[in-house]
Amino acid sequence: MIKVVVFDAYGTLFDVYSIGALADTLYPGQGSAISALWRDKQIEYTRLITQSDPNGATGSRYYQSFWDLTRQSLRYTLARLKLAHSQDHENALMGQYAKLQPFPENRGVLAQLKAQGMETAILSNGSPEMLASAVSGAGLEDLLTRVISVDSVRLFKTAPQSYALVLQAFPVKADEVLFVSSNAWDALGATWFGFTTLWVNRQNLPYETIGPQPSHTGSDLTSVLGITNCSQRPL
Ligand code: LAC
Repeated sequence: MIKVVVFDAYGTLFDVYSIGALADTLYPGQGSAISALWRDKQIEYTRLITQSDPNGATGSRYYQSFWDLTRQSLRYTLARLKLAHSQDHENALMGQYAKLQPFPENRGVLAQLKAQGMETAILSNGSPEMLASAVSGAGLEDLLTRVISVDSVRLFKTAPQSYALVLQAFPVKADEVLFVSSNAWDALGATWFGFTTLWVNRQNLPYETIGPQPSHTGSDLTSVLGITNCSQRPL
């Protein structure tokens, strides 16, 4: 019954490891601390903005693009860790976001989905520009039917209006969407929304301790094929 496979971007399709590695080169010994706090702060800002005005007619009045929030959360992270801010380092780290590589198995999985005639998309908090840059840098343009940014509703995941963008882009019901994310919170938000979900647990982490379990769990993106092979129907 799966008609569309929709992927989260950062950490799911695109490997953010290179950001931590670069951070460690620029701030020796601090790469892991920077990348962990940076990511947490970036997501915290998306929630703060969305939650503080969840029902605005044109999204949250506090909306700033994910690109801006990524930059601001990096500045916070450096200040919090008492590391010197340098514009060159900031530009280098931000530049990594625009040219992330996909995880090694991803291209093959997307190619097989295309061969099956399956529709595929990204649904991401990322701004359209940063997503376009990552998709083209990774050479994935031909393997994705749509690249959807929450920017058009100015509400970040896990707002239901953000997940609903998928249903506006494809003529399908929520449970006919296989939503794939490596972020447990995103898999949970998508499960609450009504999507069929796959949590790709690349780092052997515990799942969230609240809410329903995801429909499926796997350790890398190849798990998608096991699900779509048994339940595919063309649009
Ligand atoms: C995204 C982030 C949350 O791509 O990973 O939406």
